[in-house]
Amino acid sequence: MRIDKLLSEMGKATRKESATLAKAGKILVNGVVIKRSDTHINPEKDVVTLCGNVVHYKKFTYIMLNKPQGYVSATEDEREQTVLELLPEEERRKGLFPCGRLDKNTLGLIILTNDGDSAHKSLSPKHHVSKTYRFEASLPLTAEDKARIENGVDIGGYVTKPCKITLYNDDASGEITLTEGKYHQIKRMLEAVDNKITYLERISFGTIALDSRLQRGEWRYLTEQEEKAFIGDNK
Ligand code: URA
Repeated sequence: MRIDKLLSEMGKATRKESATLAKAGKILVNGVVIKRSDTHINPEKDVVTLCGNVVHYKKFTYIMLNKPQGYVSATEDEREQTVLELLPEEERRKGLFPCGRLDKNTLGLIILTNDGDSAHKSLSPKHHVSKTYRFEASLPLTAEDKARIENGVDIGGYVTKPCKITLYNDDASGEITLTEGKYHQIKRMLEAVDNKITYLERISFGTIALDSRLQRGEWRYLTEQEEKAFIGDNK
């Protein structure tokens, strides 16, 4: 792999910046200054240093973000703030995108990655990756409402797949687990039983749970175990 490609994939420098940094003697490979940014290296074996800091190579990046209200799940938007804007510049340069969409006002767990294949698999209904949301509704759900939603409701030309609801004591809040993700799905499911969502937060994605130490707007990398679950869950 070319060293400028490695630095750009790791969000450290554009190709042009790498050329300048190399000429200035800021890039070392195994302790030796390299003056050309098109130098080939083995990212698994060679130790690359940029301005004195070792650059670790990782093919894909996986990030857990606790989405606050008011951000859209997109990489770019002309009018709205995107979840990408919650990440530092270095991460934003890696070509990350949100794995699935949460509505602007939905909170909680979003995974951002540049691993397109795994993201695609985790979202495909074929792979049945479950996503759990905590919700509050404006009215208590009757046993009949609950059963109707769990068995599948018509949300306007589409009948949802079976899902699971656990109600809290007030019957107007609880947890709902889906294996699919249609546009505004939970909102539309509640509307189908003449109710309304007033709060929605995703708390898990497959076996990956939202880290309660993350404040809204904060992020961290997935742990090795979570990464394996994200890639493996989807296979
Ligand atoms: N269902 C919704 O209605 N909104 C979301 O953000 C996620 C699921």
